[in-house]
Amino acid sequence: MSMKVAARALLLPLVLAAILHPAAVVALGDGTPGSGGGGFSLRLVPSPGWNRTIHVDDDGFVHLNEHATSALRPPMHTQVGGMYSVVTSVGTGAGRRTYVLALDMTTNLLWMQCKPVQEPFTQLPPPFEPAKSPSFRRLPGNNAFCLPAPRGHRRTVQDPCKFHSIRLDGSADARGVLSNETLAFAASGQQQTEVTGVVIGCTHNSNGFNFNSHGVLAGVLGLGRQAPSLIWTLGQHRHGAVQVHRFSYCLPNHGSSDHHSFLRFGDDVPHTQHMVSTKIMYMAATAGRDFSAYFVSLTGVSVAGKPLHDIKELFRRHVHGQEWTSGCAFDAGTPTMVMIMPAYNKLKDAVVRHLKPLGLQIVSGQYHLCFRATSQLWQHLPTVMLQFAETEARLVLPPQRLFVAVGHDICLAVVRSYDITIIGAMQQVDKRFVYDVRNGRIYFAPENACHADAGHQI
Ligand SMILES: *[C@@H]1O[C@H](CO)[C@@H](O)[C@H](O)[C@H]1NC(C)=O
Ligand SMILES: *[C@@H]1O[C@H](CO)[C@@H](O)[C@H](O)[C@H]1NC(C)=O
Repeated sequence: MSMKVAARALLLPLVLAAILHPAAVVALGDGTPGSGGGGFSLRLVPSPGWNRTIHVDDDGFVHLNEHATSALRPPMHTQVGGMYSVVTSVGTGAGRRTYVLALDMTTNLLWMQCKPVQEPFTQLPPPFEPAKSPSFRRLPGNNAFCLPAPRGHRRTVQDPCKFHSIRLDGSADARGVLSNETLAFAASGQQQTEVTGVVIGCTHNSNGFNFNSHGVLAGVLGLGRQAPSLIWTLGQHRHGAVQVHRFSYCLPNHGSSDHHSFLRFGDDVPHTQHMVSTKIMYMAATAGRDFSAYFVSLTGVSVAGKPLHDIKELFRRHVHGQEWTSGCAFDAGTPTMVMIMPAYNKLKDAVVRHLKPLGLQIVSGQYHLCFRATSQLWQHLPTVMLQFAETEARLVLPPQRLFVAVGHDICLAVVRSYDITIIGAMQQVDKRFVYDVRNGRIYFAPENACHADAGHQI
């Protein structure tokens, strides 16, 4: 049995152990000592079910399992491949449970199934029971976070405080009632940190999440920057000793020998040398879920060193009619790159032009652009570079970060979109990202072995 297989076999039991023994405190042997503002980390794990759809070869390329992916109905490419999830404990007393939640940095609400659930999706452990958690409080119906009342009505304190959370790409949504609850995370120095006053959405009804849950996930952790997201909450109050404006992650390749790492907050964010940074856009826009994502100014793309022309405007967020549209955001909750159509076409043309001397056969496949694989092709796949507003902020994407193997084909793992560009998880692997939400900047630097972020635990 190779290392890879052994590691894969280890992973789910590890996740399940965390779920089934909620009392076990996650010890962070390597927590970087902080300057006193407080810090803690959530375990970041590949989403359950990923091993049915992908594996990573020794060459570092992601291979999609053709049968698993073509069996998806409807085929939703953005959902195929490496998703990452976060492990967190919710509630207090007899109600405390540990759940795995899908990470989504484009929305601003943590939601999960709560009993009673109409048409539940399967999850592990069973859905949260508010009645058993003494810290659970429903928000009053006139709270600012509730959905606005229908025309001609006014919500009163007694009304349920409703929410409707929709993914930026529209692939899943959930409805329910907002409440106030306590979460618990591992802190550096081996204790659990409790964070009170976190707004969570209790859903009794959701759409499109069944497939994503893989029988394990309980909901979504929305880590967008706007209220009432977790990072917003942490920045507002002093939750015990913790007041936090920064978070960080380093996504390990799914094929590396230790798959999990940490979503680190505050003082748990390690010091990393030589980071470059770019501005988070629309920091002044304080309302509207559409601005919760981490938009950046992507100003250039080059393929094998050649810049694509007239591309900057295509990534700009702008008003179209009454609505804001387009723009480019970072999201570790989107498996692979999504690109607005006109920009995608330029990228595709440049890739085809670069590979043309090899006389390759273009085939239809899982993605829009696929080639029949040859040994020559593997060696000639181009490196793509993303250039951000500031001169030194560049994200270099070696072929392993942008191309996937699907059966006998090699595909450009970029999904076409009518309205958005997202730099997804696959492009962020093996890099340290730090989001400084207070100062409105994203920092990043290569980090060779993100799996080393797992510290000493197993
Ligand atoms: C994926 O993981 C599950 C849970 O550990 C395991 O039962 C299953 O056999 C794995 N599938 C593959 C293809 O490795
Ligand atoms: C949630 O509860 C905490 C503590 O009880 C309180 O300070 C906070 O204002 C509440 N949050 C909301 C949104 O009502």
